Amino acid sequence: PSITFVLPDGTEKSVEADPGANLMRTALAADIASIVAECGGAAMCATCHVYVDEPYAALFPPVGEVEDEMLDSAAEGRSTASRLSCQLTMPDRNITLRIPASQQ
Ligand code: FES
Repeated sequence: PSITFVLPDGTEKSVEADPGANLMRTALAADIASIVAECGGAAMCATCHVYVDEPYAALFPPVGEVEDEMLDSAAEGRSTASRLSCQLTMPDRNITLRIPASQQ
């Protein structure tokens, strides 16, 4: 399956990902510059913030406690669709992730 990244400038980039692959690592490997992942995936930086809209949001487990705190304290433009991509793994179908405007 594939991930379509919608970048802050509106352009889209699609990359293939294996089910179970970490979404943040997939973004780094695909040179999605808006995903910085400063903390390396420890849910400590929020520079891997993405928006997961419906119907894709339902493919992932709910926001965890540590993820929730980090999104609250560090993510610009948090919305109900906000997730830390380092905490998510690829489902077995195509998904779309939007990158927040603050991560130009
Ligand atoms: Fe730092 Fe996801 S990489 S919170």
